[in-house]
This record gives sequence, C-alpha cells and structure tokens, in this order.
Amino acid sequence: MFSRCIRPTLISARNFSTSKQNNYKVAVCGAAGGIGQPLSLLLKINPLVSELSLYDIVHTPGVAADLSHIETAAKVKGFNGPDNLLEALKNADVIIIPAGVPRKPGMTRDDLFNTNAGIVRDLAKAAAQVAPNALIGIITNPVNSAVPIACEVLKKAGKLDPRRVFGISTLDIVRANTFIAEAKGLNPKDVNIPVIGGHSGVTIIPLISRATPSVSFPEDQLKALTTRIQEAGTEVVKAKAGAGSATLSMAYAGARFANSLLRGLNGESNVIEPAYVISDVTEAEYFSTPLILGKNGIEKNLGLGNLSDYEQQLLKAAIPELKKNIQAGVEFANK
Ligand SMILES: NC(=O)c1ccc[n+]([C@@H]2O[C@H](COP(=O)([O-])OP(=O)(O)OC[C@H]3O[C@@H](n4cnc5c(N)ncnc54)[C@H](O)[C@@H]3O)[C@@H](O)[C@H]2O)c1
Repeated sequence: MFSRCIRPTLISARNFSTSKQNNYKVAVCGAAGGIGQPLSLLLKINPLVSELSLYDIVHTPGVAADLSHIETAAKVKGFNGPDNLLEALKNADVIIIPAGVPRKPGMTRDDLFNTNAGIVRDLAKAAAQVAPNALIGIITNPVNSAVPIACEVLKKAGKLDPRRVFGISTLDIVRANTFIAEAKGLNPKDVNIPVIGGHSGVTIIPLISRATPSVSFPEDQLKALTTRIQEAGTEVVKAKAGAGSATLSMAYAGARFANSLLRGLNGESNVIEPAYVISDVTEAEYFSTPLILGKNGIEKNLGLGNLSDYEQQLLKAAIPELKKNIQAGVEFANK
C-alpha cells in the first residue's frame, strides 16, 4: 500500500506530535521555480522538517522570507547562487532537486538533457562534498538520465550509496490513481496503481492489473488509459501553451515522496513508495519499482511482482529506451 500520509500531515501540521526524532534538514535545489516554490511550501508545513534550506540561482531570499512567516516549526533559510551552494546543502538529511528548465510544447524530456545534465552534475558534486549521507530525490528531467548522472558523480567522489539516490516518479502514480478513479467513479484516495519503469513516454509502465481496489477494463480502454498516463505530462505542457510543465501536481507528488523518505528516516515501518533507482530487477541498470523505505533509504526493493501479458509487452518496449537514456547519463558524467 503506498503512503498517503501527506494528507493528514497537511491538515494537522501545527498539532502533530511524535515521540521520534522529528527534526530533519531538507534542502530544495531549484527552490524559486515553478515546482520549487509550492514544494517548499508543502515542506514548510511538514512537521518532520525542522530546517528548510532553499537553494536557487535567483530569488531565494524572497521565497525564504515569505515562507518563514508561516506559523510552523521549520526554520527557513534562503541561499542564492553557487557561492552559497555548499552551505545550503551542508549536513542535509534529504535533498530534493527540481532545478532546471522544463519542457515547452513540442519538446520531449530528452530535449532538456543538454541544459539540465550539467545542473544535476554540479548539484550532485556539492552533495557528495557536504551531505554524503543525504537521501537525494531528483525531479529534474530527463529523470531517466539525471539519476545515472548523479550516481556516477557520487561514485567518482567515493560517496555513492545506491540506497540513497532516487528519481521521483511519484507524479506518474498520482496521475494513474486519479485517472483510474475517474474512470471507475471511485474516490482517488482509495486507489493505488503501482507504476514502474522510468519517467518518460513508453518507459512509464502503469500496472493496472495490480490496482487496489481491483479494476478491469476492456482492452481498448485499458490501452487508452495506459497511453494517457504515459502522456499526461504532455497534456499539461500543451495546456500551459509555452508557460512550462506540471508544477503544482509535481509539487504535491514531490512533497508526498519527500514525506515518505522522512517517515522512513524517522523509523516508521512499512513505508512503501516506488522510485527510479539503481536496480538489478531488469536488464536496465536503473528502474522504478515499489521500495520499502527506512533509516538508510531503500530497505528493500520489492521488485516487479506479477505482470499481465499486456504489462509484459509494455516492459519489453520500455527496456531499450531506458537503456539508451541511462547510457546517455553515464556517458555525460564520465566525459
Ligand atoms: N519528475 C517529474 O515528474 C517532473 C514533473 C514536472 C517537471 N519536472 C522537471 O522539473 C524541472 C523543474 O521544472 P519547473 O517547472 O520548476 O521549472 P522552472 O523553470 O519553473 O524552475 C526551475 C528552477 O531551477 C532553477 N535553476 C536553474 N539552474 C539552477 C542551478 N544550477 N542550481 C539551482 N537552481 C537552478 C531556476 O532558477 C528555476 O528557479 C524541469 O526539469 C522539469 O522538466 C519533472
């Protein structure tokens, strides 16, 4: 069962209490952006966060001043520009990275590679230096290549712990839950659809056969729903007509994932969330499957589980694309 604790967390941010640690430093890189600002807002009202460190190359003092007036315990600090990056990340428990350019209509996530690859590389280098134990969640696209870049950089620095680096694919799960709930007239909060693979087009593999509650669709509707989940990001890019990609739903998804990381750190048991990580589950070296999260990040990879014949076909189509994306990331980091 995937965690949905973000909802009660939001409602009870002021009076939540826990006997456990409850004081984690979370850094957001790209905190002044379309995702970064609402994500930082949701983290500011998360009771597990005691220090919120906002890093960007523009506008962070303003965002930090604004958020700092909210009546929750987390102390907010803004850090602007590369000279302040190390201080921003120092000893962070969790680092969430939504830094980088988003898509415009007509672009694929891979078209962002040239700009965003260097941003992720530099942020990973800094994390290796000053926050080697941080759990790092990467939102920046193309996620399929960005995670290998960060892992290669950490490996070169001798700081790679494969349990601690995550590509955040939570938005694909959030979308799948919403669309399937709509199609079946269910409350989305009661629906869980595992989504595995990667985070772009055919690499996004919704496992509708494993939905909770169990649902079934005629073949044509199943295919249409699968395609809609795979292309949902493009739906938003088109609707925004040049003003960017998903920001608010991504901030929600990023906050949900960060909350799961924090709950795992805080000793809660059975926190399960899929993410795109170093993996030996398929022949792709990075792959998203449901994970049990704990004090050191991934406690257990729950693997593929049973797939329907249709999902097996989706997996077959995803692997070559994923391998290509991974290769691009590895080559970039090592050139
Ligand atoms: N994983 C997902 O599901 C998902 C969903 C939506 C968007 N995204 C991706 O998230 C990224 C951010 O999207 P957005 O809409 O917030 O973009 P945005 O342009 O609104 O914000 C990006 C922010 O990153 C900052 N930035 C740029 N270079 C930086 C650097 N070197 N260090 C720190 N910050 C830097 C910018 O100043 C800006 O504030 C994009 O790559 C987008 O494709 C991922």
